[in-house]
Amino acid sequence: MVRRRFGEALLLVSALFGCAFEESVPLRADAAARGGEERPMAHDIHSFARPEEARVRRLELDLTVDFATKRLSGRASLLVAAQAGAKQLLLDTRDLEIRGVRGDAPLAHALGPVQGDFGQALTIELPAAPAGAAARELWIHVDYATSPAAAAVQWLAPAQTAGGKSPFLFTQSQAILARTWVPCQDSPGVRMTYGARIKVNSPAGGPPLLAVMSAAGNPERASPDGTYTFDMPQPIPSYLLALAVGDLAFRSLGPRSGVYAEPSVVARAADEFVDLESMIAAAEQLYGPYRWGRYDVLVLPPSFPFGGMENPRLTFATPTILAGDRSLVSLVAHELAHSWSGNLVTNATWNDFWLNEGFTVYFEHRIMEAVYGDEFDEALAVLGLADLEHTIAELTAGGQARDTWLRLDLAGRNPDDGVTEVAYQKGARFLQAIEQAVGRAKFDRFLRAWFDGNAFESRTTDDFLAFLRRELLAGQPALEASLRIGEWVDGPGLPTNCPRATSRALEKAAAEMARFKGGAAAAALDVKGFTTQQWQQFLRALPAGTSGARLAELDAAFGLSNRGNSEVLFQWLERCVALRHEAALPALERFLTAQGRRKFLKPLYQELAKSSWGKPIAMRIYAKARPGYHAVSTATIDGILKWGK
Ligand code: BES
Ligand code: ZN
Repeated sequence: MVRRRFGEALLLVSALFGCAFEESVPLRADAAARGGEERPMAHDIHSFARPEEARVRRLELDLTVDFATKRLSGRASLLVAAQAGAKQLLLDTRDLEIRGVRGDAPLAHALGPVQGDFGQALTIELPAAPAGAAARELWIHVDYATSPAAAAVQWLAPAQTAGGKSPFLFTQSQAILARTWVPCQDSPGVRMTYGARIKVNSPAGGPPLLAVMSAAGNPERASPDGTYTFDMPQPIPSYLLALAVGDLAFRSLGPRSGVYAEPSVVARAADEFVDLESMIAAAEQLYGPYRWGRYDVLVLPPSFPFGGMENPRLTFATPTILAGDRSLVSLVAHELAHSWSGNLVTNATWNDFWLNEGFTVYFEHRIMEAVYGDEFDEALAVLGLADLEHTIAELTAGGQARDTWLRLDLAGRNPDDGVTEVAYQKGARFLQAIEQAVGRAKFDRFLRAWFDGNAFESRTTDDFLAFLRRELLAGQPALEASLRIGEWVDGPGLPTNCPRATSRALEKAAAEMARFKGGAAAAALDVKGFTTQQWQQFLRALPAGTSGARLAELDAAFGLSNRGNSEVLFQWLERCVALRHEAALPALERFLTAQGRRKFLKPLYQELAKSSWGKPIAMRIYAKARPGYHAVSTATIDGILKWGK
């Protein structure tokens, strides 16, 4: 039996290489059936699945969460729509222990060879269909367990939480990590609805732990045996599957919104996000009704590797945005905006990632402008453009100019490589350039039609360009030429029609830094009422060559090393590392061990790694901090420091 499986697996290797990495453009058979227009289905090079043959429609998860063994185990039942003649179902898996596969009876199955971050294909032989049978739907049940090292899942010890008493678990599925905790068709082009029963074995002596998901069911109470039940009736791609379990409290913020966090954090979180309902209202005003029912935010422990993750109905967020003054809430506007750009209309492949993030940054700015006004938003836009120019310069210098195109080419690479400011900021500027060329009213109608017309679908860059040409540019060649579409989408760097914001507030901040540079004493600078964004700009302008004594003077005057605002502290530490300011090293070490947000970790470790001064410091701090980081962050920092090499 074992031998036979092995033989099958070998056959599969060749089948997979032939299929998964070949440019094939099959027609999506179900689009016509649903009355939609028939279009070629984009091929996803980051998934082993062959949805054009057999496609997962619904997932039923039945899992037990065991903190003692750091495993999720149980069953994933998949409702599969198989085309006539389809003999196999292909699923993506990585580090999963497959214990059995069955339909009405056990089914032959085999795991393919391990292919790095892409994991292993699980090929399941479908039960024979009656001769001449047409397309069919059938349930396939996969019994499995996750590995304690599953990259999507972080198991936190009590000491890594705010409360310090209970363990905590959360998942992060984007981009291709869902396959490390659920056997699925792990492609943004495949949508499914899902249901889940999650049984939580709460450790004895502690409070009962709460399970929450990217689905309806939060904040229901568990059944007496600790089982939580969820349902996601709208079809979503696998990268939006999400689960968290911990000692969580809930505060309502409005009729359809609220916040979850550890009990000692929830009051601060509720205060930070008071404007959530206004943000939802502003978003609906712009691009139509919020289609997901509730919108809640879950504030995670500090090792969460991202600022935020747009899990539907339940955004996951880092606690580093709890600044106490609501100055970092644009992150919530961003994740909320994904409820349209990304979750409703999804990038068909990771090469089209800018369709998710560029649209979302554009939309985020529109929400911020509506709720907080022009000035606040202009400051954010100026900082964002500077980040983009920095990224473009860095990628270009590193021989990666191809990665500065909006349409990415991630063949053979982890889609994570495409997560740069290019998708976010260049994408947003492209939309802004179109807005400025056609006028806001027209552009808003156009975007709304894009979201409405493509709701619950996955789309490519070419789909968008065709829609743009049809709806906004038809018969206007001069207008089309002025947009320089080819340069934006399939060209490097920033086209000349890139909109550039200005901010009086940030100019004032830079001017104060210029005075300091010119010799003014730190204590004599006029920083009264500086916003978070002004501090960021002020510190970014700190020139090379500033002496340790002058840096110490700034720190003494403004308490920079002890800032509670993560963005200001980060900006200060980044400059201190670049300027080799030894006095800031204790603060740096505290920051790097207190949180695990990759956006903060990466530039700091990168800057340290550049010099023989910084490298040993980086290695020492990383050795201590690494066990507390999520796999998403360690994958990046391991690479920078050549850890374990
Ligand atoms: N969806 C992203 C996070 C992500 C992208 C995770 C790609 C994995 C792969 C999320 O919406 C995001 O963009 N988060 C940003 C914050 C935002 C305000 C720019 C982050 O985490 O920094
Ligand atoms: Zn985003």
